[in-house]
Amino acid sequence: MPHENTIAVILAAGKGTRMHSDKPKVLQTLLGETMLRYVADAASSVAGRVLTVVGHGVDMVRAAHPELAGDFVVQEEQKGTGHALQVAWETVRESGASHCIVVNGDAPLVTAADIEELLADARDGADITFLTTVLPDAGAFGRVLRDADGQVAGIVEAKDFDPAIHGQDTGEVNTGIFCLSAASVEEALFSLTSANRAGEYYITDLVGLGVQAGLTVRALRREGGQDLLGVNSPLELANAEERLRGRIVERLLADGVLLHQQGQVVVGPRAAVAPGAEITGPCRILGTTSVGRGARVGAFCQLEDCIIDPGATVREFCHMQEAHVAVGAVAGPYTRLRPGADVGEDARVGNFVEMKKASLGKGAKASHLTYLGDATVGAGTNIGAGTITCNYDGKNKHKTDIGPGAFIGSNTALVAPVNVGAGALVAAGSVITKDVPEGVLAVARGRQSNIERRRKNP
Ligand code: UD1
Ligand code: CA
Repeated sequence: MPHENTIAVILAAGKGTRMHSDKPKVLQTLLGETMLRYVADAASSVAGRVLTVVGHGVDMVRAAHPELAGDFVVQEEQKGTGHALQVAWETVRESGASHCIVVNGDAPLVTAADIEELLADARDGADITFLTTVLPDAGAFGRVLRDADGQVAGIVEAKDFDPAIHGQDTGEVNTGIFCLSAASVEEALFSLTSANRAGEYYITDLVGLGVQAGLTVRALRREGGQDLLGVNSPLELANAEERLRGRIVERLLADGVLLHQQGQVVVGPRAAVAPGAEITGPCRILGTTSVGRGARVGAFCQLEDCIIDPGATVREFCHMQEAHVAVGAVAGPYTRLRPGADVGEDARVGNFVEMKKASLGKGAKASHLTYLGDATVGAGTNIGAGTITCNYDGKNKHKTDIGPGAFIGSNTALVAPVNVGAGALVAAGSVITKDVPEGVLAVARGRQSNIERRRKNP
């Protein structure tokens, strides 16, 4: 349960120059989800309210995250992480929260447990507490300084670090995740200066200022805390994504999901795969997809926001989005299901079949080379190879309704809006422009005539 008297501030206004992308960095994705979503999910499971400081590409961030946009704070000019928090501070103060968690928007591997730990430390009396980790090479990260007793004394950013002044580099770095006692830090926050090499207002200077002001400042050192460090480059993004993937795969295996080629199975953080489901890599199971017990997903599939019922089969090379495959149904290989595709119980949808806003009733079949758009197909109906629902007249989309127990011959064009009644049979090669009543045979094609050839030499 989130703590009501706690507010989180996500710093997400930066551009992310090292990504070489037009997208703001926090919109880069891992396993199909933006960095910002990971951070916001972790933050919102601890804090009662989450503010996001945005600046670069604010419109793109708003469009991608309407659920967070109500609590955006815009930092017009990015003058540093300390400045970002200053910009958010009025809202923090107005919220009345006793504690403020600050997380960098570029730390997608942060977990709720990490943040919870900091909050617990703050409630235990720390005015400022933050997570650190030790690296073999501190690189571009902020160095944590400690005094002779091991008490934290400050953070010095990489650009400003000088062993002659700050002592030998210990490799202990700031992960960028803080918990602040709102009332205690306010004065220090507004006395930050930009007197450093980058000319920025650094949130990290709060630590030294806090110590000088006699606040209780603690740095919690984390073994293996590399995961908490920000993602700044495509390489770091790829590495973070791979670690996250590994974590999820491990969890699935522990739960009892059958995985083949586990190194190439990608399952997004919001996807749910039931124990006893069987998945073969390479494949990507993304968004809110759920895969039920006993369901199988073959190699080379991408499923996004789909529901695969228990015991359903998705064979190799399928691409599916916002689709449902019911109990006992079989899809693929090479099936494309677009939003609103619904493959009913025991139904069959085969190779090179595309469905969009279309349903196949119980036991219905569309086995080969077909487009079903804005259509309903009744139970037990057979859709022949090469059937096309012509749903678009250049301006509007129209519906096709095919009753149960019907048979649509191969290479039929159904020009919507059109209905085919239950048990009707449509002859192969027909172009159906008028409704077909129940139980009839409809033939709508040129009649064949066999004409003697006139040839000079037979
Ligand atoms: C920051 C820390 C560093 C720490 C590292 C951990 C500072 C000064 N440095 O460095 O000590 O080791 O994270 O990953 O805090 N942002 C804003 N507004 C700004 C500037 C930045 O919102 O004006 C946001 C960025 O979008 C980003 C986050 O703050 O999400 C961190 O900024 P970034 O530039 O990545 O900081 P680092 O140099 O990585
Ligand atoms: Ca960073």
